[in-house]
Amino acid sequence: MAPLPISSIRIGKIDDVQELIKSKPNKVPERFIREANERGVLVSHKTHLHHHIPVVDLSKLSKPHTHDDFLFEILKLSQACEDWGFFQVINHGIEVGVVEDIEKVAKEFFEMPLEEKKKYPMEPGTVQGYGQAFIFSEDQKLDWCNMFALGVHPPSIRNPKLWPSTPARFSENLEGYSKEIRKLCKRLLKYIAISLDLKEERFEEMFGEAVQAVRMNYYPPCSRPDLVLGLSPHSDGSALTVLQQSKNSCVGLQILKDNTWVSVLPLPNALVINIGDTIEVLTNGKYKSVEHRAVTNRERERLTIVTFYAPNYEVKIEPMGELVDDETNPCKYRSYNHGDYSYHYVSNKLQGKKSLDFAKILN
Ligand code: OGA
Ligand code: NI
Repeated sequence: MAPLPISSIRIGKIDDVQELIKSKPNKVPERFIREANERGVLVSHKTHLHHHIPVVDLSKLSKPHTHDDFLFEILKLSQACEDWGFFQVINHGIEVGVVEDIEKVAKEFFEMPLEEKKKYPMEPGTVQGYGQAFIFSEDQKLDWCNMFALGVHPPSIRNPKLWPSTPARFSENLEGYSKEIRKLCKRLLKYIAISLDLKEERFEEMFGEAVQAVRMNYYPPCSRPDLVLGLSPHSDGSALTVLQQSKNSCVGLQILKDNTWVSVLPLPNALVINIGDTIEVLTNGKYKSVEHRAVTNRERERLTIVTFYAPNYEVKIEPMGELVDDETNPCKYRSYNHGDYSYHYVSNKLQGKKSLDFAKILN
């Protein structure tokens, strides 16, 4: 979420989807209608499979009964990272109250009148504030979603003008929540390092003062979920992403597994974790950042709170020496500065895993 100095890009008219369904509940403007091959509901019956992606029980890692229990859970984690790029964590130790508090203010934020939300605008070419990110041209299709995104840590990436004064407890709750999620990310990276046979502080030491940003995605109901997408297919530019789906949410997140879109319905109180592009590069492709998207529902709204956790912008990223072998596993990605990747990521539209072309060594 590096700031972008793009001054005058033309992005055309962007309808606010919440306003749209208030005034014309059955209308889906042309700009939201996807090409047939991109649409939310595919013909394949497999699309309707609801999968429980792998579940990692964090209590078995932090307080294992036996060393075998610990190793078994680490194995689950490594398989999830290799085969799915996604898993959900249970017994993560974050209090229900913290989770409920952020959900409450996020919901209240999106329920405010448009004029109020517009006080925190996402300017064209930027990725913080209220609006639609990743729109760079007038003919680009739009997602059926309203977003509110904020840089959280380190303080230098914050834009204090965009932190809303209402709902009253928004900032306070976001601070509390972000601290907990930060701790969780550090713990997860420690276990991920162990799962790769690296020393546990490997990522922490490399990342420096890690960058943390949050994006709240609100998907109102859509009369034609078969024609639109809630969020375009993409992989995340982060190291790790933590997704919290609000209570009683319907299915919405889908991940591309063996060329099929698989729906994810998290267990109650679980958080969904996915591997971002940065870990894919660092592990030389062993752990994958998997393409995902969001679809909408005819009757029900959906709210997600998504945290992106990444190395400091100054950090040099390249496949870790321990995971590269010239003979059997040659280096697949070049080395680059994380800030440059971040800039590249936010200055292009979301398009599957295309952003990683930036780093790939093409033979
Ligand atoms: C994201 C994301 C999915 C969702 O914000 O990067 O993938 O279900 N969100 O909101
Ligand atoms: Ni994502």
